[in-house]
Amino acid sequence: MKIIMLGAPGAGKGTQAKMIAEKYSVPHVSTGDIFRANIKNGTELGKQAKEYMDKGQLVPDELTVKILLDRVAQDDCKNGYVLDGFPRTIPQAEVLDEALTKLSESIDYAINVDVPDENIVGRMGGRRACVKCGATYHVKYNAPKVEGVCDACGDKLILRDDDAPETVQKRLDVYHEQTQPLIDYYEKKGVLKTVDGTVDMKDVFAAICEILG
Ligand code: AP5
Ligand code: MG
Ligand code: ZN
Repeated sequence: MKIIMLGAPGAGKGTQAKMIAEKYSVPHVSTGDIFRANIKNGTELGKQAKEYMDKGQLVPDELTVKILLDRVAQDDCKNGYVLDGFPRTIPQAEVLDEALTKLSESIDYAINVDVPDENIVGRMGGRRACVKCGATYHVKYNAPKVEGVCDACGDKLILRDDDAPETVQKRLDVYHEQTQPLIDYYEKKGVLKTVDGTVDMKDVFAAICEILG
């Protein structure tokens, strides 16, 4: 099963992608997580990506596409994957489609987690993230068992550098301009499914499971 998560920054793509990955036994592939891991490890890619991420801008397609295609070519992606944060531009979607077509494959579902901008800023301030395993928490809506520590892997939780309110607003603007057009793109392909992302995360997941079967 090949799934794409669509939605604004903070809509809950990562939260839901993690749960989908576990239930359907497919890897959770997040370009944002890949970039953050590279930043943490001080790689050249990390240095380049950080410049854009800290400003709330997209990392250029030239850098992003290759990383994603390499990742989904790995063995664990043979039976599918859930993509979180990719594609984010029409050119990215087209490159992915071309790569899949060559393999006689295609995306099964593009799940749009729908949350209005008003709800987003409040969520981001309370977010805590694990860079090691990609788990996401919220101090109020989804608190870890021990404050500041990842339930899943025990690593230290961080506040993301791009979660400052001004940067969140910039990310929302970039989303509306460059990423939202993908909703139409996948609608036309007949694979778009929209779920209400404003309800409790368990209920969002239930709605997604109903779609995926
Ligand atoms: P990325 O890491 O993908 O960030 P994003 O799209 O901005 O999305 P977020 O991770 O902020 O939000 P999310 O939807 O995953 O929500 P979450 O589940 O955490 O990208 C970061 C940057 O990397 C980009 O800005 C760009 O620079 C670069 N980048 C990445 N991919 C790229 C690409 N393909 N091309 C170019 N550049 C790229 O939830 C948010 C919070 O809300 C959490 O605290 C969570 O606990 C809470 N929450 C979740 N669901 C609920 C709910 N139902 N009710 C209440 N709270 C909830
Ligand atoms: Mg995320
Ligand atoms: Zn972790």
